[in-house]
Amino acid sequence: MEKFTLVTGGTGYIGSHTVVALMEAGYQVVIVDNLENSSDKVLSRIESITGTLPVFIRADLRETTTITKIFEEYPISSVLHFAGLKAVGESVENPAKYYDNNIGSTLSLINAMKSSIVSTLVFSSSATVYSPSKEPPFDEEATRGPTNPYGMSKYFIEQILTDVALADENWSIGLLRYFNPIGAHPTGLIGEMPTGIPNNLVPYIMQVAVEKLEKLYIFGDDYETPDGSCIRDYVHVVDLARGHLAALRFLEGVNGTHVWNLGTGKGSSVLELVKAVEEAIGKPIPREVVGRREGDIPVVFADVEKASNELTWRAENTLTRMCLDHWNWQRQNPDGYQ
Ligand code: NAD
Ligand code: UD1
Repeated sequence: MEKFTLVTGGTGYIGSHTVVALMEAGYQVVIVDNLENSSDKVLSRIESITGTLPVFIRADLRETTTITKIFEEYPISSVLHFAGLKAVGESVENPAKYYDNNIGSTLSLINAMKSSIVSTLVFSSSATVYSPSKEPPFDEEATRGPTNPYGMSKYFIEQILTDVALADENWSIGLLRYFNPIGAHPTGLIGEMPTGIPNNLVPYIMQVAVEKLEKLYIFGDDYETPDGSCIRDYVHVVDLARGHLAALRFLEGVNGTHVWNLGTGKGSSVLELVKAVEEAIGKPIPREVVGRREGDIPVVFADVEKASNELTWRAENTLTRMCLDHWNWQRQNPDGYQ
């Protein structure tokens, strides 16, 4: 019987792009998502791109009995674990919600996997686990020290998964630390679903571009960087999706825990990003420089040698391409999947 890959959080932004990449590579997919931050309308879009409707089960990962039943029903051989909450500000206001959802989901998933003897798992971690005290680029050995409950939940989950693989050598676990995912599928059919006023730079700029928001507020131009604005490592979501396939293939042949940064290795400033968006959309973005945002780090970018050497994976898309694809999605779907 054909084997399936379980994709938790597979109707979300990065999960949906990875489902497309998996299906295009011949994998059978079962998505589990409680739709807390996504829409099931993405499923027909995935079908439009790949020609096949993926199996979808609406469930909360913390319901271990339900998740165990899914493993009994489908011959699942590996799991990509995207499900989680990701809003940094909300995690500061309501830390218990973040620890409960992100850590609770992961523990429940581990228990369901153990009872079904499935032991290959790729986890969505984040560059936010690195300590801001370190000078970039960040390699995988850089000191960790997250500064908010969201980041702490990723840090704890990494530790839990590492301990699970230490206790039982059958486990093969990949920890993927994403830098700043942006962009959308080149068809413009799937992308990041905007809910409320975005906190992140690119979703915010795109809403200014479609005139849903009046102007962009640039949080500081007095940093010690070439143009004074903060630098980040923006990476195309389709490149990230390919990174998951590479990690899955790597894990088929090894045990233990393996960690990789997924970024481009190149930093771009806020002002450079605004310029790239303006070129992509062909009009100026109204903007105003305001004070620094609390907690922002001046410069963040990845050392990507480990992923390149071990996974033979490199991000391929340029900043311009990322902005064009994100714009294409935003323009065609100004209200997301609504
Ligand atoms: P997303 O919110 O679009 O997708 C996450 C999905 O998980 C959503 O569809 C949501 O409904 C689902 N979900 C949440 N809790 C659940 C639960 N208890 N049970 C079942 N489903 C649940 O987010 P995304 O941007 O696609 O991020 C995917 C993963 O990558 C997350 O774990 C996130 O923390 C991590 N990550 C994201 C970024 C980023 O900037 N987008 C950066 C680094 C890491
Ligand atoms: C934020 C999170 C980080 C998370 C990452 C995921 C915070 C403090 N950090 O990081 O934990 O892993 O998203 O992608 O929330 N900017 C503006 N104006 C805006 C929005 C952003 O100038 O309206 C600037 C920010 O100051 C920053 C840059 O744009 O310098 C990128 O911001 P953002 O997209 O929020 O990402 P991160 O700060 O890297």
